[in-house]
Amino acid sequence: MAKERDDLTGIEIELLLEGVARVYGYDFTGYAEASLRRRMLQWLANSPFSSFAEAQSRLLREPPLFEELLRGLTVNVSEMFRDPWVFRAIRELVVPHLKTYPFVKVWVAGCSTGEEAYSLAILLREEGLAGHYRIYATDLNPYVLEKAKEGVLPLREMRRYTGNYQKSGGRSSFSDYYTAGYDRALLDPSLREEIVFASHNLGVDAAFGEMQLVLCRNVLIYFKQQLKGRVLTLLDSCVPPGGFLCLGTKETLDGYPQGPHYQEVEPQTRIYRKRYD
Ligand SMILES: C[S@@+](CC[C@H](N)C(=O)[O-])C[C@H]1O[C@@H](n2cnc3c(N)ncnc32)[C@H](O)[C@@H]1O
Repeated sequence: MAKERDDLTGIEIELLLEGVARVYGYDFTGYAEASLRRRMLQWLANSPFSSFAEAQSRLLREPPLFEELLRGLTVNVSEMFRDPWVFRAIRELVVPHLKTYPFVKVWVAGCSTGEEAYSLAILLREEGLAGHYRIYATDLNPYVLEKAKEGVLPLREMRRYTGNYQKSGGRSSFSDYYTAGYDRALLDPSLREEIVFASHNLGVDAAFGEMQLVLCRNVLIYFKQQLKGRVLTLLDSCVPPGGFLCLGTKETLDGYPQGPHYQEVEPQTRIYRKRYD
């Protein structure tokens, strides 16, 4: 009986996601099932509906209700200087190449609440690239983008972020980059001047043009194989020979058609440089 109910829930989720893709243009059918299902069930448990079938017609007709579901569908965890050794490698092994360009374009795909983009802005400024770069930070979830634009972090995280910043090879004091309030820290607004936050769906939207550095970290892990393939093709199309593509530490180019065209700059960093051949 429990299995039949589970199967039915699975079918209802599939039908709902198909409707969502057709009505709202957000296609979640390429997302890894277990994590998506868990998040949808969480939403249902906190909703007034007893099943997805019951919720479906209202979700498809009432955008504000769908927005509530969307808010909970994506995993938005991020942090400043996440995996600090990766930022150290960017500082030491990537920046010297970026400095050879008169102007550097960086794409942070799946930027969530902006921590990765702000971390890069700090790093590039410290490395003397102020005024010579632009960071395009994109996400499919409009709510995280609104938060990203505010540049506000929870004060309780500052100790951990300071540690990350130092391990990443930070040249200053992390506290130089924020003003502490009661329970929040406001990042230096001048960091935002070279960041463009914009909505972009890696599943359906086109590429942005050439970027010397593309980061797409901790996004592909939520996708099924086919969608991963599509996204890697899209990201690769933006990286010129000699440019860099950085994935999350649990993500890899191995086994994908792009793999042979890249070389990891240092093992385990998942920072790949595109070959010239
Ligand atoms: C776990 S966060 C990663 C944040 C950041 N890159 C990091 O590593 O700290 C994953 C982000 O990918 C975004 N995302 C999921 N599917 C996406 C898609 N199809 N297009 C663009 N962004 C997507 C989510 O909204 C979420 O903000």
